[in-house]
Amino acid sequence: MKVDDKNLRPIWLDTDLKAVKVIDQRRLPHEFVIADLKNVDDIIMAIKEMYVRGAPLIGVTAAYGVYLAALNSPVKTIEDDYLKEECSRLKSARPTAVNLAWAVDKVLFEVLKVEKPKKKIDTARTQAEKIAEAEAENCRKIGEHGLVLVDEISRRKKGKTVNLLTHCNAGWLACIEYGTATAPIYAAYEKGIDVHVWVDETRPLNQGSRLTAWELGRHGIKHTIITDNAGGHLMQHGMVDIVIVGTDRATCTGDVANKIGTYLKALAARDNNIPFYVALPSSTFDWNLKDGIKEIPIEERDPDEIRYVQGLDQGITRSVLVPPASSPAANFAFDVTPARLVTGFITERGICKATEHDIKRLFPEKKSP
Ligand code: MRU
Repeated sequence: MKVDDKNLRPIWLDTDLKAVKVIDQRRLPHEFVIADLKNVDDIIMAIKEMYVRGAPLIGVTAAYGVYLAALNSPVKTIEDDYLKEECSRLKSARPTAVNLAWAVDKVLFEVLKVEKPKKKIDTARTQAEKIAEAEAENCRKIGEHGLVLVDEISRRKKGKTVNLLTHCNAGWLACIEYGTATAPIYAAYEKGIDVHVWVDETRPLNQGSRLTAWELGRHGIKHTIITDNAGGHLMQHGMVDIVIVGTDRATCTGDVANKIGTYLKALAARDNNIPFYVALPSSTFDWNLKDGIKEIPIEERDPDEIRYVQGLDQGITRSVLVPPASSPAANFAFDVTPARLVTGFITERGICKATEHDIKRLFPEKKSP
């Protein structure tokens, strides 16, 4: 995406092919820092510490991790057992986004097919690059399909501003290009539709107020930051036309895990008869799961992410303690929105209802034999 007239992605391979470069998203919006990841440990650290985050980007980063594992193999022959072990370390970096295991397994599968060490390294690199390009293209298509929904609302409102609400950051920073939830917004903006975005996820890590606001602002898209609890009030007062969020893992029955608080947005949307869409590439479906609430692992992160707030103070980024120092805190990072609250999915293949039947009609190759 264009930032200050430069084409930017959140991840790319360095020209010497020895390091993976990522935007350190912990530092945005006040600092723009690029980090070099040179081995599997760096990749795992970057995923865990959230230099990179968001389901598709976690997958692409881990895919490059398999490449770095092959490149830095301690023995020249690049043993399969070593690669498998490094891959299982990569897969355990974060639990909720299924793209992580999906991407690692996809690269490993291709690498194990070839014998020569150089071929293994080249295959891992080209597979990681292929996944990155495919995710970018998937998001572009999600934008095309989602645009129809925004366009319809704009026509119904006779060109008046379409107010969208999105939770967390499911933008290009979380993907490779366009984003998932933001792709229809960017597409609508390019088409000249008057859009305004309510941006939340102000806690625990401020992915909305830091990252989505930064992205949209850099693109010139009208947006307003709201607290995580404001959505219901806005919906009751006709100030939200549509909710579009991303997801970290969706079951084939239509349940979706996304940043904590998404479920409450879905409940409020249902109570106010507002369409609630989930935008996702097919890499985010977990075709093995049927019951999201019982089966999707929900990450619990360091309570200090809640206890401390980070921000800019007189030009310096500082972290400050909010609650009593001795009070314990619990930091559940995701929740599951059941399929019944989801109006539909926006995927690279089109829009469908959040039912197993409709999802598998779009992805017939996933039907069990
Ligand atoms: O904890 P994060 O920042 O990795 O959580 C990200 C989200 O919840 C996103 O909404 C989700 O990954 C979809 S990204 C296109």
